[in-house]
Amino acid sequence: MESRRYVQSQRELERAQRVVPGGVQSSRRPWIEGASPVFIHRGNGCRVWDVDGNVYVDYTLGLGPIILGYADPAVTAAVNQQLTRGTLFTLNSVLQTQLAEELVRLVPCAETVLFFKTGSDATTAAVRIARTCTGRELVLRCGYHGWHDWCFLGNGVPAAVRAATLPFAYNDLRALEQLFEERPGQVAAVILMPGGEAMHAGDLVLRPAPGFLEGVRGLCDRNGAVLVFDEIRSGFRMALGGSQERFGVTPDLTTLSKALANGFPLSAVVGRREVMEAAERTLLSSTFNGDALGLAAGLATLGEIQRRAVVAHLWLVGESLLEGLSTAIAAAGVPAEAVGYPPMPMLVFRYPDPDQNREATRVFYTEVLAHGIMVQPGHHWFVSAAHTPEDITHTLTVMGDALEEVARAVGTGAAGGRASG
Ligand SMILES: Cc1ncc(COP(=O)(O)O)c(C=O)c1O
Repeated sequence: MESRRYVQSQRELERAQRVVPGGVQSSRRPWIEGASPVFIHRGNGCRVWDVDGNVYVDYTLGLGPIILGYADPAVTAAVNQQLTRGTLFTLNSVLQTQLAEELVRLVPCAETVLFFKTGSDATTAAVRIARTCTGRELVLRCGYHGWHDWCFLGNGVPAAVRAATLPFAYNDLRALEQLFEERPGQVAAVILMPGGEAMHAGDLVLRPAPGFLEGVRGLCDRNGAVLVFDEIRSGFRMALGGSQERFGVTPDLTTLSKALANGFPLSAVVGRREVMEAAERTLLSSTFNGDALGLAAGLATLGEIQRRAVVAHLWLVGESLLEGLSTAIAAAGVPAEAVGYPPMPMLVFRYPDPDQNREATRVFYTEVLAHGIMVQPGHHWFVSAAHTPEDITHTLTVMGDALEEVARAVGTGAAGGRASG
């Protein structure tokens, strides 16, 4: 079904398909064929404007990095100042030390810090540091950690590379223990998102079962493996020091990116000095790792997150979004749940039939996008410092109407409610 709202987006997509495979960058495919925007013109605060001139309150935020809001004045000023001084040098910038000092102050496991550009760079570097540190090869992983060879199971990756990384299910401590037992002295690292996985699988967001994170920590300690928390999504959102601060379990290494520089490319591996020292015995070099714009943006972003008490704001507006959504779900009588941690909320449909779930998702997202709320189907949402209580109220009105439309189009079931996940 073609919508007249997205005519220019469709034109741009057809044009792009002639010169770009699929016409899109990475995973940024049309969410709903013909009924969702594809190309964005600009963003400001928590709003984005598409190339057709439609404006949205945005809960996708560049897949997470925009924690302060688009074009945040403080970050823009810091980056502009750095632009006039040059952006990339052969030798080191003092900004690197300043930002490293800040991360050491904020993140519980951080004693030393290395900077990279993307999240995949950081997880790959953490795994290489762990392998160098332990002299072992095997990595046990849980969830999405990027697109690089060591953690991708799909096309284009040699079987031998895949065999060096084994998956385990979040919260299944026994399964992890068994992997260790079957391969004594072989595991270099365990890597996981501490707050839970399944965040963008259209499933409930899992939370650590009592004792799970402590159990993983204990298994790594007993087996001499490096524990890596992937906080690329949760860093600076769950708490200033990430999920490790909130849950009180400290890993050996942590990967950070997304919210670290409010949309400028920057990532980091932070961790215990003794483990991080292995970085000196391998190669982790890339031309743009020292990029001064990213470092300047990172310093400004961390400064603003603290000055404006952003983490508390994210929890507050996220909580009111989740609560309001639960009320709207009950009012519409559709089988759905509002789930997730408040800084990363999500709606999940719970119709018994997968086709009904697909149709409910199509109707809901088509409706909210058509009324100026940008959320992405099949992925949790994000809130930012720029989302106001008024934005949340407006969002809930639109989402309430969309849920009524779902009830009309797909039917009602036993009413859902708020699940703690
Ligand atoms: C938890 C986690 N780890 C790693 C990555 C990879 O980061 P990037 O896409 O910047 O390479 C992502 C990206 O979404 C992520 O969510």
